[in-house]
Amino acid sequence: MISDRDFFLPPMDDDMPLNALFDDGKELYIEIGSGKGEFISQYPQQHLDWNFIGFEMSEKRIINCLKKLNPQQNPNVRLVKLAVDDKIKLLFENATISGVFIQHPDPWPKRRHHRRRLIQTAFLDSLAKILKPKAKVQIATDHKEYALWIVDIFSQHKDFISLQDSPIQNDYNLEDHVVTWFEQEQRRLGFEPNYMLYERI
Ligand SMILES: C[S@@+](CC[C@H](N)C(=O)[O-])C[C@H]1O[C@@H](n2cnc3c(N)ncnc32)[C@H](O)[C@@H]1O
Repeated sequence: MISDRDFFLPPMDDDMPLNALFDDGKELYIEIGSGKGEFISQYPQQHLDWNFIGFEMSEKRIINCLKKLNPQQNPNVRLVKLAVDDKIKLLFENATISGVFIQHPDPWPKRRHHRRRLIQTAFLDSLAKILKPKAKVQIATDHKEYALWIVDIFSQHKDFISLQDSPIQNDYNLEDHVVTWFEQEQRRLGFEPNYMLYERI
């Protein structure tokens, strides 16, 4: 019998697009930084006619995710252990991803570490290539300065527009929003999430 780890993290050839993780032709969504797995275990259960790939770079967090997943309830989920960066376009066929979820990306608050932040112009250039037109990018961060950085980078990018009246909102108004462990912790400490929602033009 196949183990849960082999089900959710099947071995892949390095040169094979990750689209091949599914062969049923459903819409494909990705999450970057799955953390302890709240989103990747809950949200796809509400959207069984879509497929989801959760990227997580930490083995410890992959194990946290696996504890929340099972093949019966999450047949439409796979995990990839990887630090995502501006080479993401090499992982997928062009214009095949229907949406991206990024909740509480590491803020790297020190100025000398800003170049380690995930959201950069080169990352958006690469992301734009694999997203379908009208694909949505949902981002949440409790870190106000990173939120302003993200808005600045997106607002200068020709391929994305904000779908919100104000690019940063403290209320998503999305009924299927999953509160992650990190969101819960930061709220407990008094930090409200800043929500951003962009569309690939
Ligand atoms: C602050 S935690 C947030 C986790 C989860 N999204 C949440 O809201 O609870 C950031 C997570 O993203 C992972 N991570 C950070 N940078 C990443 C990258 N470039 N690619 C994949 N995972 C990343 C970290 O290992 C960590 O689990």
